[in-house]
Amino acid sequence: MKGPVQWHPAPFLCPGVELRGSGRGSPLESMSVGTLVAGPQAPLLERYSEDAVGILDAAERRRLFDAAGTARDERQLAWELLYRIEPALYAELVAGERLHDGILGWLPSECDHVLEIGAGTGRLTVDLARRSASVTAVEPALPMHDLLRDRLRRAGADRVQVVRGFFDEIPAPQRAHDLVISCSAFAQHTLDDPDACLDMMESRCAPGGLLVLVWPWDAPWLRSRGFEHVVFEGPMVVEYESLDSALALARIFYPHAVATIAARGSRFVDYTDLGLNAPRDLCWKRCV
Ligand SMILES: C[S@@+](CC[C@H](N)C(=O)[O-])C[C@H]1O[C@@H](n2cnc3c(N)ncnc32)[C@H](O)[C@@H]1O
Repeated sequence: MKGPVQWHPAPFLCPGVELRGSGRGSPLESMSVGTLVAGPQAPLLERYSEDAVGILDAAERRRLFDAAGTARDERQLAWELLYRIEPALYAELVAGERLHDGILGWLPSECDHVLEIGAGTGRLTVDLARRSASVTAVEPALPMHDLLRDRLRRAGADRVQVVRGFFDEIPAPQRAHDLVISCSAFAQHTLDDPDACLDMMESRCAPGGLLVLVWPWDAPWLRSRGFEHVVFEGPMVVEYESLDSALALARIFYPHAVATIAARGSRFVDYTDLGLNAPRDLCWKRCV
């Protein structure tokens, strides 16, 4: 995608090839990934054709495009297309980004009802399932649901309910969860009304329960809204499967880091080389 992306209904159909899209019922549901992806190594921001936006349904388009049909944030749009067109590539990307053990140790060791928003392919969900009587995992991108369910099944986590929803539309009862949590998903600059989203999350939290944002996008912004910020120290690196995998993923997601990774010649990559802060912190508040 180059230049401002405009939403327009997909004008074509390509029968016989399969794309498991979130825009179920949309013409693009029957298209191949190859039709929408510029090439296997194409960088994220140039990866998807303009027609790819046809995979988004009305609820998703309303959140990602303004009234004139222009993408609010093209970077965010590219990520949202990734979640829907190539969810397995997303899962491969984050497999090596393990959360700091301090985060998992900080969370309550036993919970009754947990609500996770933006669960993705389950980086945190599997661990939440182990410590909870029940987990509701909310995720807007339907193609992620299949990977998440599969991962939960393999982990024997059968007390997790996977449902569709958004930060501003959470299909879960109010004041009913002792832990409401989100990992690497609450990006306030991409949300129409981030304060209303925080309020909605808090409304799902039982009095005395915890609202936790793991690996927050903007801790100072959350602190200004009454959250505490906790950072866990110690060395952290991304652990890719192999050097080849690190290079292939960097070509797509971190093109600026490819030369550095090649020069270092290791499958272990510093977060700073990628331009990322490491997943070593969380913001939390107690719900009233
Ligand atoms: C970077 S991924 C993180 C996924 C997962 N929690 C993890 O740690 O790997 C961001 C997730 O937020 C979800 N997301 C994006 N917009 C959202 C919204 N408005 N409401 C809820 N989730 C959203 C995406 O579909 C995606 O699964």
